[in-house]
Amino acid sequence: MKRDPWPSVRGPVLCVVGARPNFMKMAPILRALAAHEPSLPSLLVHTGQHYDADMNDKLFVDLRLPSPDINLEVGSGTHAVQTAEVMRRFEPVLDAHRPSCVLVVGDVNSTLACTLVASKKGVPVAHVEAGLRSYDRSMPEEINRVLTDQIADLLYTTERVAHDNLAREGIDASRAHFVGNVMIDSLLANRGLAVPPQESLRRGGVDLSAFDVSRGYGVVTLHRPSNVDDAAALGPLLEVLRDLSERLPLVFALHPRTRGNIERFGLSPLVSGGSIAVLPPQGYLEMLGLMSHASLVLTDSGGMQEETTALGVPCLTLRENTERPITIDQGTNTLVGRDRGAIERAFGEIMSGHGKRGRVPELWDGRAAERIAAHLGDWLAHRPALATT
Ligand code: UD1
Repeated sequence: MKRDPWPSVRGPVLCVVGARPNFMKMAPILRALAAHEPSLPSLLVHTGQHYDADMNDKLFVDLRLPSPDINLEVGSGTHAVQTAEVMRRFEPVLDAHRPSCVLVVGDVNSTLACTLVASKKGVPVAHVEAGLRSYDRSMPEEINRVLTDQIADLLYTTERVAHDNLAREGIDASRAHFVGNVMIDSLLANRGLAVPPQESLRRGGVDLSAFDVSRGYGVVTLHRPSNVDDAAALGPLLEVLRDLSERLPLVFALHPRTRGNIERFGLSPLVSGGSIAVLPPQGYLEMLGLMSHASLVLTDSGGMQEETTALGVPCLTLRENTERPITIDQGTNTLVGRDRGAIERAFGEIMSGHGKRGRVPELWDGRAAERIAAHLGDWLAHRPALATT
């Protein structure tokens, strides 16, 4: 019996987001797909990996993301439970909507889960931000990156080193396409809308007469399990931050994982001093405003290493490695790990005016999503018809 051909070449592009760092990557892609001639219809699937209002809803508003067409509402869980639950709930979505392809971004559990489901059903997968490698398999994101890139059909990259990484894993060069950085598309599109730092602090209940940011401040974020899940790692890190805050006031936007662990380990006194302002997870426009005016950023985030490079703000990355080496080679990033000496040295250099200035990497020009839509539209239009038996 002849079956209806599927996956369809004309079905929608199913765009998947799950966690906070996916949202700023997907917003420009959705706009570019809609603006493409002929327009490429898309559906937005949210797996529900992140669900708190300040990890989720606020960012949708800031980034002018449409409400998801489908929400899988998986919530939190162990990696196995979260990944399995996304897979189980994503499969019927593919059956119902018959997409022309699935587009995933970044390296979170939802990225891998949806890629696995789609590729086993013969639905093409496009991975945006492919080929980044920390070469540290203790990071869950590294596992997600390696596996997603092995099975996705189209690999859109942000820097040329990604192509070397993919080649090393035996991936054919014809699958990889250097398009630039969609996260920087979002940054450039929203820079003019950034919320002034004083406003974000005031909204966070910080007393601005006691916490004066007019003479400079640093921004801190921490959420990597390797930094925050173990008291022996988190405690000394918070002690260093407390000491640095005596020289430069610090604004610490707390991820729910980190907040929970600080309380659980009894470390709250280390962050409840006069020179550290603790804020809830910030909206996109608030964080953009805070970073743009900061003297420096201390973080273990992947995205903020790139955003600070694009903004020309020095960044000290509290990790031993980075999957984004261009931010070190060309940008403003320095790896300092959790080493007190390295952190204090790099901090001192920035405070004495010798921080890295860097330059903006190739194709981080605000048009990466446009290039993705152009390539994907062409690829879908010329894809050979699929078998119908
Ligand atoms: C996830 C991503 C990480 C990304 C980060 C950004 C993976 C493997 N990790 O890590 O790459 O940098 O998002 O934030 O996909 N929680 C809430 N509310 C929420 C979401 C989470 O309270 O909206 C709490 C839950 O207790 C949960 C914990 O935070 O157990 C961790 O959330 P999870 O999504 O598992 O991983 P992240 O640490 O956020």
